[in-house]
Amino acid sequence: MTKKVQAIRGMHDILPRDSGLWRFLEDTLRDVLTRYGYREIRMPVVEMTDLFKRSIGEVTDIVEKEMYTFEDRNGDSLTLRPEGTAGCVRAGIEHGLLHNQVQRLWYQGPMFRHERPQKGRYRQFYQVGVEAFGLAGPDIDLEMILVTHRCWQQLGLTDLELQLNTLGSGEERVAYRDALVGYFRAHEEGLDEDSRRRLDSNPLRILDTKNPDMAELVASAPSVMDYLGEESRRHFESLCKGLEANGVAYTLNPHLVRGLDYYSRTVFEWVTDRLGAQGTVCAGGRYDGLVEQLGGRSTPAVGFAVGLERLIALLEEAGAADRLPGIDAYLVLAGEPAQQQGMRMAEQLRARLPALRLLTHCGGGGFKSQFKKADRSGARYALILGDDELQRGVVGVKFLREKLEQREIPADRLADFLASLN
Ligand code: HAM
Repeated sequence: MTKKVQAIRGMHDILPRDSGLWRFLEDTLRDVLTRYGYREIRMPVVEMTDLFKRSIGEVTDIVEKEMYTFEDRNGDSLTLRPEGTAGCVRAGIEHGLLHNQVQRLWYQGPMFRHERPQKGRYRQFYQVGVEAFGLAGPDIDLEMILVTHRCWQQLGLTDLELQLNTLGSGEERVAYRDALVGYFRAHEEGLDEDSRRRLDSNPLRILDTKNPDMAELVASAPSVMDYLGEESRRHFESLCKGLEANGVAYTLNPHLVRGLDYYSRTVFEWVTDRLGAQGTVCAGGRYDGLVEQLGGRSTPAVGFAVGLERLIALLEEAGAADRLPGIDAYLVLAGEPAQQQGMRMAEQLRARLPALRLLTHCGGGGFKSQFKKADRSGARYALILGDDELQRGVVGVKFLREKLEQREIPADRLADFLASLN
């Protein structure tokens, strides 16, 4: 027997029964971003491997063990993008979008990370990412968070908690890093193996440990707040004030450090306890050094990305799928002449009523089987055109969900009648 074909572990099909909810989510996010003046950018799914090493950082989980990297036929090392910020910055530099300009951009699409798959964590997953370039002040950090906040409102998602931290500017971060290394070295016996390894490579990530045995040690570690300069402190305070003025609640989390190296100053995550271990639905922050690091002129930048699978899981739980609009009408056609005439009538209705969702029966069969299909389609009502209706110049309207009487409407008044059925 030949082996069955199968999708790759951690990579999923989005089936028709679910795609309506995906579209609702994507449309809602896009609408909110458009209302704030953000414009879409589309980048390739594959980039040179070096781009991710230089931006995300050589000693991060993503670059060390999660990238899908391969050699193409020219011998170039390419990687399926694990995230969108690096590619967006690359495109911005390459097309001269960044220098001395303000850009508010968004993108969406699949990202790839070879992580251990579990609920909410996949190897191909979808993000909507948002980046703003050329603005150094806390006002744009605030706008980023307000955009996300409005997205949740628009999606009807409550129960998301905003966690906030600052990592300080470049030099402050270096000083803080040194202080952390000093502290953890002095307490090396309390570190697990993973953290010991990180001590040299990426000590900030030790703060992010999930190991309960290290909780106390981490809690007493130096705080980044003590290493902030005047400007960073003011930047952060201004952001916090802005959030308060806009009624956005937040929790300060001094251990929020993020898994990518390019951040400085503001970092934030929106988290929920409804999704088990993978509770971060949105994450981002400021990355003022990245553009220069990738060869562009120094440009301040801030952004975030939302994980669509995780938002879909929350929407499903909230029953959002049941509120999505389905088919309005199912056109039942019995008899050869009605079939011919029915297709034309359906086209005329579609021309008159652009919002009408009309499914025309194809494949023949009697009234009974067609009504069964009409019912299963989820349509609100069936339009009925048989030989008898055709001869009399009328169309039957049978309501499939509401207790309303069946009607007969003259064919030339049908569009007006359907339009009146809000
Ligand atoms: P990130 O924290 O790596 O940041 O990912 C952002 C979001 O993508 C996560 O909070 C999560 O919702 C989702 N996500 C990440 N990995 C997976 C996975 N394996 N399966 C399902 N969902 C996942 C970034 O990617 C940055 N580029 C965000 C950013 C933009 N920072 C500044 N600008």
